[in-house]
Amino acid sequence: MQLAKTLKADHVFIGELQEDKFSVKTLSYCMDNKIVDGLEYILKNSPCEVVYDGKVVVYPKNVTKIFPLDQDLVNLKVEGYAGIPLFNSKNKTFGAIIVLYRKPIENPDFVSSIITLFANQVANEIEKQHYIKEIETLNKTLKSKIEKINEEIEKNNQKEKMLQRQSSLAQMGEMISMIAHQWRQPLSAINASVIAIQCTTASERFDLSDKNDREQFLQFLDKKYNNIIEYLQGLSETIDDFRNFFKPDKQKELVNLQEPINRALKIVENSMNSKGIEVNCDFQIDEQIELYQNEIMQVILNILKNSEDNFIEKNIQNSKIDITIYKQNDNYVISIKDNGGGIPQDILPNIFDPYFSTKNEKNGTGLGLYMSKIMIEEHHNGKLKAENIENGVEFNINIKNISTSP
Ligand SMILES: Nc1ncnc2c1ncn2[C@@H]1O[C@H](COP(=O)(O)OP(=O)(O)OP(=O)(O)O)[C@@H](O)[C@H]1O
Ligand SMILES: [Mg+2]
Repeated sequence: MQLAKTLKADHVFIGELQEDKFSVKTLSYCMDNKIVDGLEYILKNSPCEVVYDGKVVVYPKNVTKIFPLDQDLVNLKVEGYAGIPLFNSKNKTFGAIIVLYRKPIENPDFVSSIITLFANQVANEIEKQHYIKEIETLNKTLKSKIEKINEEIEKNNQKEKMLQRQSSLAQMGEMISMIAHQWRQPLSAINASVIAIQCTTASERFDLSDKNDREQFLQFLDKKYNNIIEYLQGLSETIDDFRNFFKPDKQKELVNLQEPINRALKIVENSMNSKGIEVNCDFQIDEQIELYQNEIMQVILNILKNSEDNFIEKNIQNSKIDITIYKQNDNYVISIKDNGGGIPQDILPNIFDPYFSTKNEKNGTGLGLYMSKIMIEEHHNGKLKAENIENGVEFNINIKNISTSP
């Protein structure tokens, strides 16, 4: 507007070359000192063609005669024409300032020097606006990318939670079968005691009218009841052991490192004994350290159950598990070795992957070692590794005392 007034021009507009390089769109258009709607036009046969080629052009009069095919100029009844290209910072024409007069231009030099003066400023401003727009678009894409990343993180968290649920459901199933196993013997002992009482009563072996017999009968009953109570205590202890196992670890505890191992062993003891698996422990350290006890216990249990499964599957004779705890520099190492023939070298790198299992028939979830790795490496900042040894596999749990680690 200011420019139109200074130049006393009838039309002034700033045009921008479109991607097709043939047409121009006006960014701002001032006609008869009023801002009007923008328009788009084709460069061919127009004096603008030369301007967009990078040259300053001034036709003081008769421009429609010189460019008779430029219908826009003819329609607007233009006489005088001046145009200057706008260069970007790479020195390429991207637009132009065009000034049109319905009468011949009185002072072409004045017009030419004023538009030259303006051109630089306008070009800088337009380029600046472009950059701002670009930055805004970049910002928007960045924002949507960040949102997507957050979504992915959330999805992953959900996935991990699901895996944890599946894994604990699977463990729960295993637990139930272990409980059933451990309950079988005391339940049948209780059953035997009850049957003994029933038979004795039915056979009328004791004459209850006789004082001596009565006393003997009471002694017999007392013995049987005590047996039953003892077995019942055993049953309830088993339940307590398993319940402890399922308690989620909310807080670290200061415990003797032997404790979670002993607890895990207590749970599998019966099943291992019944399968003739020998378990040897060599606890070289007896220190209290800070850890999530139930998690360590679960990891040990997962490793022990895997050895047991493998012994059964391969029908290994003289099956043996050696558990050692020792200290290596600042690290505590729990090593669990078995003599079950090891893990085929080609699948060894995959055993910690989620859902990786070779136990099709036994319906392994393939989550045992995956969850164990998370518990050791992410929750305890430690390392869980497996390697084949002479005639079996060795799992190494390497942890630091959490309270001393950074
Ligand atoms: N001591 C071992 N001896 C031989 N192979 C083993 C041993 N421990 C693990 N593996 C192999 O590693 C695989 C993955 O073990 P992982 O505990 O993650 O899953 P799984 O035992 O198959 O399933 P789940 O734990 O749900 O019962 C097993 O399927 C088995 O092939
Ligand atoms: Mg397993």
